[in-house]
Amino acid sequence: MRKFEFQNPVKLLFGEGQISKVSSEIDSKARILLTYGGGSIKRNGVYNQVKEALRDYKVIEFGGIEANPDYSTTKKAIDLCKNEKIDFVLAVGGGSVSDATKFIAAGACYEGDSWDFVSKKVTITKALPLGVIMTMPATSSEMNNGGVISRRETKEKWPFSSPVLFPKFAVLDPTTLRTLPKRQIANGLVDIYVHLVEQYLTTTDHYMATDRLAEGLLQNLIELSPKLTSDSKTSYEDLANYMLTATLGLNGWTGMGALQDWATHMMGHEVTAIAGLDHGQTLAIIYPGTMDIMRDAKHDKLLQYAARVWNITEGSEEERINQAIEKTEQYFINAGCKVRLSDYGLGKEIANEVADRFKSRGYNIGENGIVTAEKVREILLSRV
Ligand code: NZQ
Ligand code: ZN
Repeated sequence: MRKFEFQNPVKLLFGEGQISKVSSEIDSKARILLTYGGGSIKRNGVYNQVKEALRDYKVIEFGGIEANPDYSTTKKAIDLCKNEKIDFVLAVGGGSVSDATKFIAAGACYEGDSWDFVSKKVTITKALPLGVIMTMPATSSEMNNGGVISRRETKEKWPFSSPVLFPKFAVLDPTTLRTLPKRQIANGLVDIYVHLVEQYLTTTDHYMATDRLAEGLLQNLIELSPKLTSDSKTSYEDLANYMLTATLGLNGWTGMGALQDWATHMMGHEVTAIAGLDHGQTLAIIYPGTMDIMRDAKHDKLLQYAARVWNITEGSEEERINQAIEKTEQYFINAGCKVRLSDYGLGKEIANEVADRFKSRGYNIGENGIVTAEKVREILLSRV
């Protein structure tokens, strides 16, 4: 296990009706910017619950944050924060709204152009306090200090993070998930799964505690997936377990002291930036390719994953690894995602474009930098 320091200060308010408690978490004199997306919260009643909870506050609204939030949108909200002297930002929606709100909170406390956070790697040292009412289990943005920002104008998508970007609190009410469309259930089931394996499926170097946490959470997803994707109504308890599994998937717990991969996410961000696919859609395409092309480096952990997550214990080592890759791909398909670039009308061109981007940047990705630009090419070409 590697040396590490760990702190996660996010307070969780979990369960039906918890939205009504947000006022006890925000200073009564705060001027609040309420951020949200394309309108799902207005259609499912969450917006009304939030407005009711904040009835005694000065609230300024900023809606219209798109999936894969764009820098140009956050810029407008940053100006609003500065002009309206906002002192608390409350995100209501999915990972995109939460991430955008982190970017806005940081940008509101920065004199320069907030794009500097990604282009010049300017360290984020100050941000407005923020809270998140999460309505989409996937990113764990509600309980971590990171985000991802897109810039369509230049076809870019970059992660950012800072210890000052942890939300003060996160509200998780499983009943808000009842209106999630099938496409977003699929995206979530894939994204959470891939967060867990990106932190886990590297080497077998004594990560006993976090390995078993990750394996258990992966098995939750495998068990919950058929219930979440079926046409019958999902029970409150299943929604609650799904929601908590998502939060624990990327709140830092399973990554403590562990060597981590993240190559699939980095490749996926480029595919989204170039072709506009949803985040989960990119991961479902790429992850089976990463497992296959990097199978030598991941050999021992792939066998552990096969045995402990999928109960695959028969056959040669190669057969067991093949089966584990097939099972993983089938889980993505069953969740409702497509698993080939060609399913979206994409081909060799995007594989080469993404690989060339990594080549020109001159750094490798994956655990210990094992995924070179040429491996990126091989992985993506194997997924056409
Ligand atoms: O915009 P609205 O109208 O709210 O609709 C959203 C959006 O269209 C809808 N939705 C959310 N909750 C709903 C709902 N519809 C009905 N009922 C509900 N309860 O779902 C659509 C997708 O939402 P979005 O927020 O884009 O999805 P997700 O949570 O998957 O977030 C994706 C973004 O998060 C980044 C991704 O790269 C992408 O930009 N990530 C953030 C991470 C982090 N902060 O740690 C890690 C992840 O790996 C990921 O990269
Ligand atoms: Zn993700």
